[in-house]
Amino acid sequence: MQLTLDTYRLLGRSGLRVSPLALGAATFGTEWGWGAEQDEARKLFDTYVERGGNFIDTASTYTDGSSERLLGDFTRSDRESLVLATKYTTLRRPGDPNSGGANRKSLFGSVESSLRQLNTDYIDLLYLHVWDFTTPVEEILRGLDDLVRGGKVLYVAISNAPAWQVSRMQAIADLRGWSPLVALEIEYNLAQRGGERDLIPMAREMGLGVVPYSPLAGGVLTGKYTRADLTGDGTASADSNRKSFNHALGTVTERNLAVAETVREVAAELGRTPAQVALAWTLHNPAVTAPVIGARTPAQLEDNLGALDVDLTEPPLSRLDAASAIELGLPHDMLAGDHIRQATAGDLKLEPR
Ligand SMILES: NC(=O)c1ccc[n+]([C@@H]2O[C@H](COP(=O)([O-])OP(=O)(O)OC[C@H]3O[C@@H](n4cnc5c(N)ncnc54)[C@H](OP(=O)(O)O)[C@@H]3O)[C@@H](O)[C@H]2O)c1
Repeated sequence: MQLTLDTYRLLGRSGLRVSPLALGAATFGTEWGWGAEQDEARKLFDTYVERGGNFIDTASTYTDGSSERLLGDFTRSDRESLVLATKYTTLRRPGDPNSGGANRKSLFGSVESSLRQLNTDYIDLLYLHVWDFTTPVEEILRGLDDLVRGGKVLYVAISNAPAWQVSRMQAIADLRGWSPLVALEIEYNLAQRGGERDLIPMAREMGLGVVPYSPLAGGVLTGKYTRADLTGDGTASADSNRKSFNHALGTVTERNLAVAETVREVAAELGRTPAQVALAWTLHNPAVTAPVIGARTPAQLEDNLGALDVDLTEPPLSRLDAASAIELGLPHDMLAGDHIRQATAGDLKLEPR
C-alpha cells in the first residue's frame, strides 16, 4: 500500500473526496488535561495540510470549544479546500434541557455555535455525535436534511449509534429523498474490533464510509503503556495526562497490553513503529475510508503519517488478527458454520460479498 494524503477517497455513497487519514482535532487545546497548545496545534494542522491532507475532524465540545475555535483561526486563509467535519448532540448547558441530545432544537443551536466557533458559514460534514435513545429518527433526519437544503451543512453522518438504528435511518432517508448518511465514525482499532459484528458490515451495505476513531486505542497500541499502567496508581510509564482518560475509558487492560505487545513485535520485524503498524491495520480494511489520527505532538504526527506506506501482508496480518480476534456472537458464529453454507448454497461455487 503506497498511499499519500492526497490519494483522495470517496466518502461512502457520496462524491466527496477525502484524504485516507483524517486529522483529529481533539488534541487541539489543553482544556482536557492533555493536548497541544495553540502554536503546537498550528504545526500539526500546517504539516497535515501541506502534505495534501484535507479531512479535519472536530466536535462542538472538544477541549471545551477550543478545538473548533483554533480551527476557525487556522482555516482563515484557505477554508474552501478543506473538508471540515464537526458533531452535534453533546453541547449541553446546565439548566437547558434541550441544549444537548439529538433533538431539532439542539441540532440547530449546536450548528450555529459550531459555525461561529469555526468562523465559517458552512460545515462540510456534520455527525450526530452520540445516540440519545429518545429523539425519533424522522426528527433527526428531517432536521439534518433541512440544514443541507439551507446550505449550512453539505453532508451528514453519524457516530456512536447502534447498527440497527443507523440502517433504519438510512432506509428512511432514502425512501423520503432526505440527505443520506455518508459516514459512520466509530472506535475501531486492534484493541476494539466490536464494529466487525454489525456496524462495519452495515456501513458497507448501506453506503456509509467507515471513519475509525482512536485508531491507537488512545495510545495503548503504541506500546508506551506497561503493566505499571494497569493500576493507574501514579507509577505509570506513559508520559501524559492522557493515561487517566484511557483508564476512565477502560482501555488499559491486560488483554490490550498483550495486543500492543504483538503490534510491537510485528513492527520490529517490519522495521516500522508500532503506531504505523496499528494504523496500517485499520487502513487495510476495505470498508475503512479514513482513520482519524490523534497526534498530540509534531513527532507523533510524522510517525502516524508514516503508516500510509506500510505494506501489511501475510503473515503479519494473520498474526495481528489472531492476537486481537473477538467472538462475533449470535448470529454470526452460527451463520459462519459449514452446515449453514451447505444448507444455503450446497456445492455452488459462490463467492461471498
Ligand atoms: N466520534 C467520537 O465519539 C470520537 C471519540 C474519540 C475520538 N474521536 C476523534 O478521533 C481522533 C483521534 O482519537 P484519539 O485521540 O483517541 O486517537 P488515538 O490515536 O487512539 O490516540 C491518540 C493519543 O495517542 C498518543 N499518540 C498518538 N500518536 C502517537 C505516536 N505516534 N506515538 C506515541 N503516542 C501517540 C497520544 O497520547 P499521549 O498524549 O499520551 O502522547 C494521543 O493523544 C480525535 O482527535 C477525534 O477527532 C472521535
